[in-house]
Amino acid sequence: MSPQFYRDTPSDIDKVAELLNTGELVAIPTETVYGLAANALNPVAVSKIFSVKQRALTNPLIIHIGKVSQVTEYCEVNDSAIKLAQAFWPGALTLVLPKKSTIPDIVTAGLNSVGIRMPNHPVTLQLLQRLDFPVAAPSANPSKYISPTRANHVAESLGHAIGHILDGGPCSRGIESTIVDLRIEAGPRILRYGPISRQELEAVLDMTILEPIEASSPLEPKTSPGQEHIHYSPHTPMKAVAYRSMDEWGDSETGYILIHPHEPPQGLSGTLYPIAKLPDSKDVAQNLYSILRKADQAGHNQLIIELPPGGSEWDALRDRINRATNT
Ligand code: TXA
Ligand code: MG
Repeated sequence: MSPQFYRDTPSDIDKVAELLNTGELVAIPTETVYGLAANALNPVAVSKIFSVKQRALTNPLIIHIGKVSQVTEYCEVNDSAIKLAQAFWPGALTLVLPKKSTIPDIVTAGLNSVGIRMPNHPVTLQLLQRLDFPVAAPSANPSKYISPTRANHVAESLGHAIGHILDGGPCSRGIESTIVDLRIEAGPRILRYGPISRQELEAVLDMTILEPIEASSPLEPKTSPGQEHIHYSPHTPMKAVAYRSMDEWGDSETGYILIHPHEPPQGLSGTLYPIAKLPDSKDVAQNLYSILRKADQAGHNQLIIELPPGGSEWDALRDRINRATNT
């Protein structure tokens, strides 16, 4: 089976809306990564997402809405949620809030909270505004593999299992949304770093935002169920080294992934993959996953990736690169 591609024409958007309406899965573009979408109010449709991705049923999904006003239909909002939604939606910020009973338990893996966001992608916003239900959508990749940032990435790794892909071009942000838990008495906490930085959130709320806790922590093991240490990984063994300190050279079969082109040490043999032209965190985020896929498909026997420089604008990239390493 090869999937059908849909474009940003009114008739294609109508067809995709109808597919979702009848319980089909469709891969949809967002500004972060492509999502594998189903009608969030239809538990049978949502269950297909878990089987196609081979995702654990204990790992909750994010729901996506097309209008800010929909948030109160599905969650209990508070002042912080309103402020953040006004400041960052549509955008790469997922809010975790107490869920209402309108959302089926399978979406949230039985948790009493739900992750919700309004994505900032023109085609998907048109689509969502045409639906009378939210869509549940995890990243459209097999569980634990690199997230897709192009329609063809979805076709490559899930094309055998899904019938429909809405092609909205390359994702402008390139890494998954920032997730912030707004339920905690102690104050809001970031569950996953992403394109919206902790500083940006703090500036809007005028309060300190707590840092993520790893799932392995005995403190709150259930707070961020998807934060396994290894995630988003290539199949090829990959290790990370500090910024500009590539000194563990392999052989001609090694792929070296650099933040940006810079002077390689002498005597290098192997292939260099600069992620971006300049050390700009936005450009690096936009290209990271497509470079990882390219290097993973080139038949290297190992990959060595450089970590970003210091500084909080690199938090999300440092997190993703650390999670992508698998040796
Ligand atoms: O940018 C994104 O967020 C993309 C696009 C498609 O919107 N979606 C995405 O979904 O990255 P996914 O399922 O690959 O990652 C969502 C993460 C998972 O780690 C999940 O455990 C966590 O969000 N999550 C979802 N609902 C949660 C909840 N109620 N409490 C805590 N964590 C939650
Ligand atoms: Mg994912």
